[in-house]
Amino acid sequence: MVINLSEKNSLVNNWISEIRDVSIQTDRMRFRRNLERIGEVAAYEISKTLTFEDREVQTPLGISVCKVLADQPVLGTILRAGVPLHHGMLNYFDKADNAFISAYRKHHRDGSFEISLEYVSCPDLTDRVLILCDPMLATGSSLVKTIHFLKDEGVPKSIHVVCAIACTVGIEYVRREQPGVTIWCGDIDDELTAKGYIVPGLGDAGDLSYGTKQQQ
Ligand code: URA
Repeated sequence: MVINLSEKNSLVNNWISEIRDVSIQTDRMRFRRNLERIGEVAAYEISKTLTFEDREVQTPLGISVCKVLADQPVLGTILRAGVPLHHGMLNYFDKADNAFISAYRKHHRDGSFEISLEYVSCPDLTDRVLILCDPMLATGSSLVKTIHFLKDEGVPKSIHVVCAIACTVGIEYVRREQPGVTIWCGDIDDELTAKGYIVPGLGDAGDLSYGTKQQQ
């Protein structure tokens, strides 16, 4: 299942337009905050699909039976670009457990690249709701590799992926390789460059959030 959050008009459309805009994305703090806001809205939307239970709450005047989230999800992030989106999700799922995975593109001289996964910090995922944040779903290969890798930490009850911009090629790849996954995205673009960048996309989300890095 794929949910495009900008299909219906909402503030998400404004934030997507700002993270794409070359004249606005130079403001790094605004860029990160916009990703965080998209994460917050995605968390709210995903929460509507989760299980709630009744809890009796003592107010100063009596007892209120409130619906509360039955189980906390695990929020997983692919470092480093996923951090602002993750932070936004954690603002809303404030009692969630967290997983961190380092995945990067190891570039070869011929222009090709492979995904290298090195660091994983993760709770037991057995029967948990896993929500993975990755701002740019391009080829989908780092995401699929990450999901394979994480399944060694226990098989989750369900997996959601949250991204700011997804490419149709990446969506199809994830659907083929991990059919049960639900993808929540801020917008969908159709083109991918040979170097794996989404067009029109927004550029390099990690660099725009945190500055350029040396090529690996
Ligand atoms: N990662 C990015 O930061 N941007 C893209 O366009 C694709 C992957």
